[in-house]
Amino acid sequence: MSTTTSHAATTALDVARIRQNFPALHQQVHGKPLAYLDNAASAQTPVQVIDAIRGFYERDRANVHRGVHELSQRATHSYEQARVKVQRFLNAAQLEEIIYVRGATEGINLVASSWGQANIKAGDEILVSAMEHHSNIVPWQMLCERTGAKLRVIPMNQQGELLLDEYAALLSERVKLVAINHVSNALGTINPVKQMIAQAHAVGAVTMIDGAQAAPHVKVDVCDLDADFYVFSGHKVYGPTGIGVLYGKRALLEAMAPYQGGGDMIAYVSFEKTTYNELPYKFEAGTPNIADAIGLGAAVDYALSVGMDNIAAYEAELLDYATEQVSAIDGIRLIGTAKHKASVLSFLIGDVHAHDAGTILDREGIAVRAGHHCAQPVMDFFSIPATTRASFAFYNTREEVDALCRGIVKVKELFG
Ligand code: ALA
Repeated sequence: MSTTTSHAATTALDVARIRQNFPALHQQVHGKPLAYLDNAASAQTPVQVIDAIRGFYERDRANVHRGVHELSQRATHSYEQARVKVQRFLNAAQLEEIIYVRGATEGINLVASSWGQANIKAGDEILVSAMEHHSNIVPWQMLCERTGAKLRVIPMNQQGELLLDEYAALLSERVKLVAINHVSNALGTINPVKQMIAQAHAVGAVTMIDGAQAAPHVKVDVCDLDADFYVFSGHKVYGPTGIGVLYGKRALLEAMAPYQGGGDMIAYVSFEKTTYNELPYKFEAGTPNIADAIGLGAAVDYALSVGMDNIAAYEAELLDYATEQVSAIDGIRLIGTAKHKASVLSFLIGDVHAHDAGTILDREGIAVRAGHHCAQPVMDFFSIPATTRASFAFYNTREEVDALCRGIVKVKELFG
C-alpha cells in the first residue's frame, strides 16, 4: 500500500477514541496488556451495544408483536427499528427481506432446508468453493444426500485465490446454486462475488453469499452485488452473540416454505389447516432473540457511524503492516497471500504446532486463533493440520502487531 493511502487510512479513524468504546480491550491477560487479535472468531462489543441491550432489560423488557401494553409496544418498536438499521447496513431494497436468525450458520441452514428442499433434485449441481467454512459446505452436502444432487468445488491456487476460469467451466444449466464466501475466514481472501454472482445468474443459478467475514470489514450492498441470499453473524460485527441475519430477495423468500413452525410465523391456525404469516415473520417462529436483535441494530449503527470505507481503509493499512512485519521473521510461512485480502493473517511458525504457538502467545496477552478454523478442506489443500491466525478489527493498532511479532519471536526461542 502506498504511503499516501496509508497516511489517509491512519488519519481517517481516531483509534484511541474508538478504543474507549470497547471496555474489554482495556485489561491485562496473564499480567500483559491484552492484544485482541481474534476478531474473525468473535469481535469485541462497544458500550453503545451493551447500553442498548441493558436499556431493553432495564426498561422495555416484554415480548414482541403480542402485547397491547406499553412495554411490549416499546420492545416491538426497538426490535423492528433494529431491522431497519440492518436493512440500511446491507442496503436491502425491502425491510421484509431481512430475517433474524441465530447467525450465518442458521441462515445457510434455513435456505438449504427450505429453498433447497423445494428446488434441488437428483442430477442438479451445487457449487461451493475450496475455501468455504464448514457452515457453507455441510448444509449443502446434507441437501445433496437428501436429494441426489451433486456437490462440486471451485478450486483455488496456492495464494488462496479462486480459479475463475475453472469456475466458468463448472457453470452449466445443471448448476442450481452457487454458495461462496465473500471473505475467507481462514485465508482472508476477498472473493470477486459481484462478478461470480453475475456468472451464476447467466446459467440460471441462485447464489448464497456467506458474508460472516465480510460484513465487519467491507461495505456490503446486496442490491449492487445482486446476491439472492446473503448471511452474516452479529457477534462478528461488534454485536451480541446468538443473533444474525439472512437477507433474501423477496420473490425467493415469498416462494419458500417456513423453516420452523410455531408462534408468530402463522396467520391463522386450525386443526384442519394453518396459513402462514407474511414476511419476515414467516421465518421467525417463536419468541425471537429480542434483546440481541436490538443489540445488533446498535452494532450496525455503530459500524456505519465509524464508516465502512474508513474501517476498510484502516484495516487494509494495518494488514499490510502486519504482513510485512510478521513475514520478515525468519521461519514464517504465510497461508493465504491473495492480492485482495481483509483483516486475516494466517501463518505457520517453523514446525511449531499452531496450538503450542497460540498457547504461548496467550501467555503474552495476545489472543489469536489456532486450529483449522472450521475450514478443514483449506488445511488439506495446503497439507497442514492447522494455522495460527491473527485477525484484525478497526480498533487494533500497530503496537498490537508489534506485540504479536515479539510473541512469535518468543515462540521461536522456546521451541529452539
Ligand atoms: N468462523 C469463526 C472463525 O473463523 C468462528 O473463527
